[in-house]
Amino acid sequence: MTNISLHLEKVYDFVSNDEIVAYKKTAEQQNVALREKTGKGSDFLGWVDLPSSISEATLDEIEKVALKLQSKHLEVFVVIGIGGSYLGSKAVIDALSDSFSQIKGSFESPIVLFAGQNISEDYLFELRDLLDSKEWACAIISKSGTTTEPALAFRLLKQDLEEKYGVEEARKRIIAITDAERGALCTLAKEEGYKTFVIPDDIGGRYSVLTPVGLIAIAIAGFNVRELVSGAKSMEVACGADVPFEENIAAQYAAARNALYKTGKKVEIMVNFNPKLHFFAEWWKQLYGESEGKESKGIFPASVDFSSDLHSMGQYIQEGERILFETVLSVENVDNEVLVPEDKADLDKLNFLAGKRVDYINKMAELGTSIAHVDGGVPNIRINIPQLNEYYLGQLIYFFEIACGISGYILNVNPFDQPGVEAYKKNMFALLEKPGFEKETAAIKARL
Ligand code: PA5
Repeated sequence: MTNISLHLEKVYDFVSNDEIVAYKKTAEQQNVALREKTGKGSDFLGWVDLPSSISEATLDEIEKVALKLQSKHLEVFVVIGIGGSYLGSKAVIDALSDSFSQIKGSFESPIVLFAGQNISEDYLFELRDLLDSKEWACAIISKSGTTTEPALAFRLLKQDLEEKYGVEEARKRIIAITDAERGALCTLAKEEGYKTFVIPDDIGGRYSVLTPVGLIAIAIAGFNVRELVSGAKSMEVACGADVPFEENIAAQYAAARNALYKTGKKVEIMVNFNPKLHFFAEWWKQLYGESEGKESKGIFPASVDFSSDLHSMGQYIQEGERILFETVLSVENVDNEVLVPEDKADLDKLNFLAGKRVDYINKMAELGTSIAHVDGGVPNIRINIPQLNEYYLGQLIYFFEIACGISGYILNVNPFDQPGVEAYKKNMFALLEKPGFEKETAAIKARL
């Protein structure tokens, strides 16, 4: 089977091959440090060999639970979580789903919706209003078990489930995915007897998509989690520490983005020409933003959906401040064929395209855009994805994870912590007058 591939030829007007290869030794060393757990944050490297070590028993159990829930003829499955507890499954499900599946529905699998990823009262009201008339179940996913957004959403949805189905049946419709031993959710799950999956201690939220955190929802949505893991496993080998830099696309990507960063390219824009990949970029933004953005360092991860955003952000990318580079997720083969029809009147002057595939036009937009952006001073990295399926998405996930670890180590930060996330929580709790935050409450109120 072919693999996803990395193409750097459109960065060489900005950094030379030598400037990228200058990172060869350090990228290889950092890859070894990840495998041998000798670098910063080495307590959180359980994801590095996860694809090859995930047990058959875990995959069997995930599939069994998915089948059991599907047999309840669910219309909706709600995933309650935030950050790494929801972005991975959302990214994969959206990439693999029919663009209109939420309206078309499916007989075999429920629609997967999300909650606890914001604190919008309207969102929660409208979701509960919808669920009132649906057959539904949910998963609450929180490693710490105390994150405010999912805890709040779960408090409401648990009550709704219990009112609708009774306490006993509600318990059968709730899956808890959390720490093995610690945390409020772990305690509650034990008390209530929820079906529980464990988030391993040594895997942080944003690296957890290939654990039950991501796999449960992906399986319930009807996708093949074994293929996803198998794709990731193939990348674990292809980007291994024993694979030389010249053949190792994760090491090369980490090197190229650090070389660009050194020349002042401080913003990396993840580009897609297929809206199904919108949330893949959201997952990638969390992965890279939380891993690298610290100690006043790090490339700012941004994203655009082309060609839509060529009519909004395109102007800035072409002519704004020259601090940008792009990484394009380029899908080689689409699943469906749509041909441009001939039109007698040809008022829109599109007859020159009659008989051509829409994807051919999209590909020319992609090529034309990359040439224009390079001409405008924006280096262009391209990642080719043979097709949007479970296998290649698994490859892409592992590729970005391992490259992120290497890249963060090159930057000399700990890519596996997120101390900065606490600042807003402290202020929010102080403003909400949470018991225990009395001093902070007084201090923040004095500033208002
Ligand atoms: O990457 C991370 O670890 C974080 O972004 C978490 O995923 C996020 O804060 C959610 O945390 P929890 O799963 O503990 O509710």
